[in-house]
Amino acid sequence: MIFRQLFDRVSSTYTYLVASGREACLIDPVLDHVDHYVKLLAELDLDLVKAIDTHLHADHITGLGALQAQTRCLTVMGEQTAAEVVSLRVADGDRIGIGELDLRALYTPGHTDDSYCFLLNGFAFTGDTLLIRGTGRTDFQNGDAAAQYDSLFNRLLRLPDDTRVYPAHDYNGNTVSTIGEEKAFNPRLQVRSAAEYVDLMGRLGLPRPTMMDIAVPANRRMGLGAANRAAAPSAASASLTATDAR
Ligand SMILES: [Fe+2]
Repeated sequence: MIFRQLFDRVSSTYTYLVASGREACLIDPVLDHVDHYVKLLAELDLDLVKAIDTHLHADHITGLGALQAQTRCLTVMGEQTAAEVVSLRVADGDRIGIGELDLRALYTPGHTDDSYCFLLNGFAFTGDTLLIRGTGRTDFQNGDAAAQYDSLFNRLLRLPDDTRVYPAHDYNGNTVSTIGEEKAFNPRLQVRSAAEYVDLMGRLGLPRPTMMDIAVPANRRMGLGAANRAAAPSAASASLTATDAR
């Protein structure tokens, strides 16, 4: 298995490349880096067969549409998504084949109503459901703190403690954690009930993501036709405020 963790500095997004044999998938690709991904795939002699978004992102424009145009890969999101032109919609428990590997889809609503995690051989790609020492905000895009509590405590945190956690974002320089580590040290997970979690999430008072009004409509079309990126904030200003996750 080939595994790479790639980073977008503007939105602090992690993109993951997973490959088996010659088949590769990208999880949460960012439009601005599509040329880099395509070059890396060629250098590693890999064919991109699937590009997956864990949910409809509010802080960056997805690379799904551009990757499909360049590589003819399938684009994959959960069946609940508002994205209009996804080629493969997965449901909870579905398997996504990448060479000899099977990614398993786990429906984990809460950050958004279309949030999924993807499990693979002791790895969990947790999107914005579980971050390192944090969890995804639940105050827009049909977010629901009670649903997120259920996704966390009744699904993700029941994975083995040594499962490696790879989130869609990190704002503090972390790259990987484990389920056991997050259970012990994630401040959002030190609650005794769903009601306590809902109360905690309701008191965050986070600013609206800078890119939201541009990214959400563009991502409904998988980033296709997103030529108006000049309207997006500069990298310097965006890096201060473009947080759709924490
Ligand atoms: Fe998000």
